[in-house]
Amino acid sequence: MCKAAVTCKNKRLISITFLAILFSILGEFSTDADPEGRHFNYIAFHNPPYDTVIRGPNGTVTIFGASHNLVEWLSVKFKFTYNTSLVNQTLVEKYGTHEALFYQLVNDKNVDGIACSFYLTMDRVEKMDFTSFTWNEGFNLVVPRPEEESRLFAFIGPFQPSVWMMIFISLFVVVVLMTLFTWVYNSQRRNNVSDATVEIDQIDDHRRSNAISKILFDIFSTHMIYAINILTNQGGREAFNRASFRILIGVWVLCAMVLVNSYTGIVTSSLTTPKLKPSIDSLEELAASKQIAVLIRFDTSLGEQILKATSGVYKVLGDQARRNPDQIVGDPFKLSAKLETGRYAFPFVRTYSISFVGSQYKKDKKCRFKSSKPLSVSSGYYSWLYKKNSMYTKSHSRALMDLWESGLMRYWINTQPTIPKADQCFADNKRRISRLSPIQLSDLTSAFLILGIGVGLATLSFLLELIHSKLKRYK
Ligand SMILES: *[C@@H]1O[C@H](CO)[C@@H](O)[C@H](O)[C@H]1NC(C)=O
Ligand SMILES: *[C@@H]1O[C@H](CO)[C@@H](O)[C@H](O)[C@H]1NC(C)=O
Ligand SMILES: *[C@@H]1O[C@H](CO)[C@@H](O)[C@H](O)[C@H]1NC(C)=O
Repeated sequence: MCKAAVTCKNKRLISITFLAILFSILGEFSTDADPEGRHFNYIAFHNPPYDTVIRGPNGTVTIFGASHNLVEWLSVKFKFTYNTSLVNQTLVEKYGTHEALFYQLVNDKNVDGIACSFYLTMDRVEKMDFTSFTWNEGFNLVVPRPEEESRLFAFIGPFQPSVWMMIFISLFVVVVLMTLFTWVYNSQRRNNVSDATVEIDQIDDHRRSNAISKILFDIFSTHMIYAINILTNQGGREAFNRASFRILIGVWVLCAMVLVNSYTGIVTSSLTTPKLKPSIDSLEELAASKQIAVLIRFDTSLGEQILKATSGVYKVLGDQARRNPDQIVGDPFKLSAKLETGRYAFPFVRTYSISFVGSQYKKDKKCRFKSSKPLSVSSGYYSWLYKKNSMYTKSHSRALMDLWESGLMRYWINTQPTIPKADQCFADNKRRISRLSPIQLSDLTSAFLILGIGVGLATLSFLLELIHSKLKRYK
């Protein structure tokens, strides 16, 4: 078969190397220990909504959740026994929950794994073994639902403040002009009929100026009432047969028509359309918001990225959080307590936001929170972690791939009782503008408020007048 000794030797060499490689591969597989019959210690922690830890009144602890289901599934597949204990609370206070778990997994001989999937970062991969991913999802913000802006002063809305200012000024200018015209016409008439002035001339100077200002004020106020009547669409008559006066009034009526028509065109919708305070749907909008501050879990990968960022919106948020250190937390319980105050937004995985919004709805019977649009952060793949160079990483990794393909994990997570249904909170609840229902009282509060204030003021001035005249009589 072998024509030349040299080629034959070569062939044998090649087949030997091939076999050697084959054995070494098989050898690798054989170091992948069979977990059958072993005992695993997992550490668990409160990780809503995926995993839940409930502390009973007498120190008992109940742990359930999707990761628990996963461990159960693995233990049946590989026929191992396991126990789950809680993460060491002393370490949690020191490092934050996630970092405490990593610390225990790396340093504690008794701990074999963590009952949870984690986002992989360079730091985590260097310290620990990771399996194929068991979960995948993107990020959202949990934000307080924007409230409706008060419509008490919506009637001012149709015009800009400068327009109101201009109307006010021109009203005054027109009325002052009208008063001036009337005064001049009247004094001309008085000069013609000279007896009328004699009377005034005879009385002393002080009383004369008093009388003049009273006449002026009377003229001014009748003209003012007329001008306002025109402006508010009430009509009224102003009889004067001088051309200049008619031109002035004609121009005022024209101007008022334009103003009134443009106002009435807008005021209904301005009164009846609820205006929401601006809502927050991205990290950029959160960074710009004055009312809502960011909450950061420093022990999560996203929190770490925000806190370590040196540019962009992450840095802005990181700086904001560093200015108020109580916005940086490492404990899920503290975090949800803070979030419930409605003053913070929290970027985290989507399921968390859905569960938080739902559980708050269950508690308050009101959608106080909402889940933002997906953030433009790349969606995360989450893996199961083991000790570095663990003998079980590979076999579990292959099994977990099967698990992912089966879709069981998604089913487990979606059916967690910690994700209450709150469909109302996820529907777009914008009130339609063209609605057929009658205008509500809340839409017209401002009109009644003005009426109320006016009635109050009138009563007050009536009382003052009464007191004034009483005092005069006593003098
Ligand atoms: C603790 O309480 C649970 C019920 O909440 C009960 O079943 C259990 O026996 C109690 N354990 C002890 C040690 O009292
Ligand atoms: C928790 O960790 C601290 C610090 O490493 C240690 O002193 C303590 O004994 C641990 N507690 C438990 C219950 O393991
Ligand atoms: C359960 O886990 C703890 C902590 O790892 C360990 O000390 C304990 O021995 C385990 N229990 C059993 C029954 O193996």
